[in-house]
Amino acid sequence: MEYNIAVVKGDGIGPEIVSEAMLVLDKVGEKFGHKFHFQEVLAGGCSIDKNGIPLTDETIEICKNADSVLLGAVGGPKWDDVPSAKRPEKALLGLRAALGLFVNLRPAQMHKALADACPIKPEIIGDGFDILVCRELTGDVYFGKHYRRESDKGWGETGADDMNYSVYEVERIGRRAFEMAMKRNKKVCSVDKANVLETSRVWRETMHRIKDEYPEVEYTDMYVDNCAMQLVRNPGQFDVIVTGNLFGDILSDEASMITGSIGMLPSASMNESGKGMYEPIHGSAPDIAGKGIANPIATILSCAMMLRYSFGLKDEADAIETAVENVLNAGHRTADIAAKGEKVLSTSEMGALIREQL
Ligand code: NAI
Ligand code: MG
Repeated sequence: MEYNIAVVKGDGIGPEIVSEAMLVLDKVGEKFGHKFHFQEVLAGGCSIDKNGIPLTDETIEICKNADSVLLGAVGGPKWDDVPSAKRPEKALLGLRAALGLFVNLRPAQMHKALADACPIKPEIIGDGFDILVCRELTGDVYFGKHYRRESDKGWGETGADDMNYSVYEVERIGRRAFEMAMKRNKKVCSVDKANVLETSRVWRETMHRIKDEYPEVEYTDMYVDNCAMQLVRNPGQFDVIVTGNLFGDILSDEASMITGSIGMLPSASMNESGKGMYEPIHGSAPDIAGKGIANPIATILSCAMMLRYSFGLKDEADAIETAVENVLNAGHRTADIAAKGEKVLSTSEMGALIREQL
């Protein structure tokens, strides 16, 4: 098969890590008999430099027409003084909106070989852990009306942000989470704040209705404050966590830090037709950009998610994940995951070892 992938290398370490990931896809194509066609487009700071805006209609069109989008990272101190409406991050929000990406999947998996980086005690982590956070991406307080008004208590200027969730939006993300759970360990924890928020009461009622469509899946609810605590107290109890945009933003960062290594974690954002944007969870790492030392694994694992979720290529995705696992088990490390005194590989050396494994 042939696949068209729009590639947004972006800023900072983006070009370094994405280049390695593209070579890995080429290798997978060679091995399994597929052809991946890449079309590179600008978004973020590099687009501001060239076009004056972070996201052009041309980039949007190419991303919409592609089978999938691979993204590095956008932003950096160079564009800190750009007015907020034109900042590099606007490119991400613009692409999410244009592609209708309503679910953000963030697996947080601890690789046994990197157990030392985990900030939680071994007796709590046990055999390691493997969580998938399904965060709703296009609703909630982020997309409500943001405004200011005069306080009705006489306390002066007051900021206000409207929080909304419709039954439709909750059903859409909820079903996606249950489908993911069916492919994993058949366990869903829905996280809300239904003791306080009306949006959460709609969320919980809707989840309770659709859970009956998936009788094989073990379902629980949890308040968000308890979930934040449980993730640290006993992370092994979770498999799929499904939650709204705001809680998901925070909990997915918390879950990922349990693994201790930001350079390792992939993500996928998908729309209703299964098309997705795949990117590492980390940013453009301006402090190490251009040095050739960034860890490319998060981006390479994002490609595995692309193969699995957008293209249905399970064996190919497994092959990438196994290659990464083998390289780590053999003790190969980039600087961010190396212990003191361990030999440190460059971005391209790590990429080459993963391709060799493939
Ligand atoms: P960051 O994730 O870029 O960096 C945080 C720390 O982790 C830095 O010390 C960095 O060197 C390290 N790090 C990140 N990725 C790494 C990798 N692959 N290998 C080795 N070390 C790695 O977050 P920060 O510093 O808060 O943001 C920097 C810029 O990136 C900002 O302009 C921010 O807005 C942007 N950003 C973009 C995102 C995106 O494009 N999706 C997401 C998060 C931040
Ligand atoms: Mg965040």
